[in-house]
Amino acid sequence: MNPAGAAYWRQLARAATERGHPMRVGALATVHDGQPQVRMVVLRSVDIDHAVLCAYTDRRSGKVAALKQAARAEWMFYDSGAGLQLRLAGPAEVHQQGDAVDAAWAGLHAGQRREYQMATAPGTPLKQGAASVSDTTARQHFAVLSLHADRLDVLQLERQQHHRTRFCRHSQWAPEALTP
Ligand SMILES: Cc1cc2nc3c(=O)[nH]c(=O)nc-3n(C[C@H](O)[C@H](O)[C@H](O)COP(=O)(O)O)c2cc1C
Repeated sequence: MNPAGAAYWRQLARAATERGHPMRVGALATVHDGQPQVRMVVLRSVDIDHAVLCAYTDRRSGKVAALKQAARAEWMFYDSGAGLQLRLAGPAEVHQQGDAVDAAWAGLHAGQRREYQMATAPGTPLKQGAASVSDTTARQHFAVLSLHADRLDVLQLERQQHHRTRFCRHSQWAPEALTP
């Protein structure tokens, strides 16, 4: 990671572990059938060395269907106190099996697991008295979504002059100043 961009990555890594951090939740954008879709998701982990960010989600959700069709996403974070916007884009994957997914599931408390216990998929009409499924079936709904960033676009708002910088994986994350 280029030192100029490393501070932003460290900030995201802190956001993933600090409850209440302004960048703990960001807007994740995908495209499905040519239709842009954006929703808030919680940043769960950051691998700075590989420039990978993870979220937890339901494998039956719209974002997962979108990523099956077009496996790229952009994830945007904004710290209003610092006037800092970070946009990270790249290929995204959905993982349902493996040690990392099992460990993530094991780390969820009962209330968090309940989100995956709905018998019906997210976004489908809710029937009265909607059934919930067992913890074992809920685990099958659970997935880890990873974004392998190949681009970081930073916008720093300043009173006098805003600053915008782009970092790309293909240029070894060297900073490139842009017109804001
Ligand atoms: C503050 C906040 C945090 C959220 N965190 C998550 C999350 O971590 N994972 C997730 O799948 N949905 C999360 N949601 C719900 C999504 O925004 C969205 O409504 C849901 O995932 C269905 O979106 P989709 O149909 O586009 O996939 C969150 C919503 C809010 C408002």
